[in-house]
Amino acid sequence: PDSITVGDLAQRMAVKASELIKILMGMGMMSTINESLDQDTAQLVVEEMGHKAIPVGAKDEEENLLKEVREVDVDALDSESRPPVVTIMGHVDHGKTTLLDYIRKARVAAGEAGGITQHIGAYQVQADSGLVTFLDTPGHAAFTAMRARGAAVTDIVILVVAADDGVMPQTEEAVQHARAGNVPIVVAITKSDKENADPDRVKNELAKLELIPEDWGGDTQFIPVSGMTGQGVDELLEALVLQSEILELKAPKTGPAAGVVIESSLERGRGPVATVLVRTGTLHKGDVVLAGQHFGRVRAMFDEDGKPVKEAGPSCPVQVLGLSGTPEAGDDAIAVTDERKAKELASVREAKARDARAKARDRRLGDWASSMG
Ligand code: GTP
Ligand code: MG
Repeated sequence: PDSITVGDLAQRMAVKASELIKILMGMGMMSTINESLDQDTAQLVVEEMGHKAIPVGAKDEEENLLKEVREVDVDALDSESRPPVVTIMGHVDHGKTTLLDYIRKARVAAGEAGGITQHIGAYQVQADSGLVTFLDTPGHAAFTAMRARGAAVTDIVILVVAADDGVMPQTEEAVQHARAGNVPIVVAITKSDKENADPDRVKNELAKLELIPEDWGGDTQFIPVSGMTGQGVDELLEALVLQSEILELKAPKTGPAAGVVIESSLERGRGPVATVLVRTGTLHKGDVVLAGQHFGRVRAMFDEDGKPVKEAGPSCPVQVLGLSGTPEAGDDAIAVTDERKAKELASVREAKARDARAKARDRRLGDWASSMG
């Protein structure tokens, strides 16, 4: 169908319907939760909220082209077990980066501008039981779209709730994202070292959101931790391993890589730099990669510590240099065999994006003209 109700669209974006209705109102459209939106309007509002819209129909056409540039039937390859991708989510300042920092035994939080995370950091950690890939996300209210992307590529969400603060708006939002992506949640009650820590309050408040602790007869693991003292960190890692064993995560390790762009930027002296989370296959230095509307040969790859690497397998995050531009977070990144067709596909996508932008501009101008009456 080429229409969707406000309620369904809100659910797909993991936002409240009321929020969507407010944005629509800002665009000059009065609507209710049952209102049907046509594809153009839906696309506009989705982009207005910082999400990415994939129009119905466009997907199949692109998928066919993609098959041509890949020349490999990835579904036919043998799968092997792969590390879990774990996204840390929660309200601003609840201790996500500090916790990850302790897990990595590095000092990420101390180096951030104002101590607020503004992007998704991606790190791989060797736990006793195996490798785990972590994505850190921002808790600040402004970064909804980034959190939604984090939840979309993840196997498990660690929901961080500060023991001295309890459930807050972005805690609830994180729960919604995880549910929209059908991702299991492990709760980390952070700042448990604090004198005014009240873990029972956290349990009570999350129980109201239907996250029931195991010791209350539910099936959600709640683990009191501290990113300061390291209390509970081993239990948390164990809980992750347990959860990932249940999920039986697998991916083909051989074959051309397919992944997703976590973030990208233009860096002086390095050009476009994209952090890519590989999902299947192995990405090699020298591979030709199509990433969203961009394209290029991988000139160099680095791990999260800036060490050069030659290849990256499933669940591995790497910085990739050599693309023609900066793809958007959430774009796919795939190694291709047919370089010429890939270039073609990149320009098809670019033209499409340009079209969509022009359409949006025309519509806004039209709205403005009609409002001037
Ligand atoms: P955003 O990325 O902005 O959403 O914040 P965050 O959730 O990553 O919080 P961050 O780790 O930056 O910590 C926020 C503040 O809480 C810092 O001042 C930390 O020192 C403090 N903090 C974090 N974890 C703990 C903890 O376990 N115990 C105590 N006592 N303080 C903590
Ligand atoms: Mg942070």
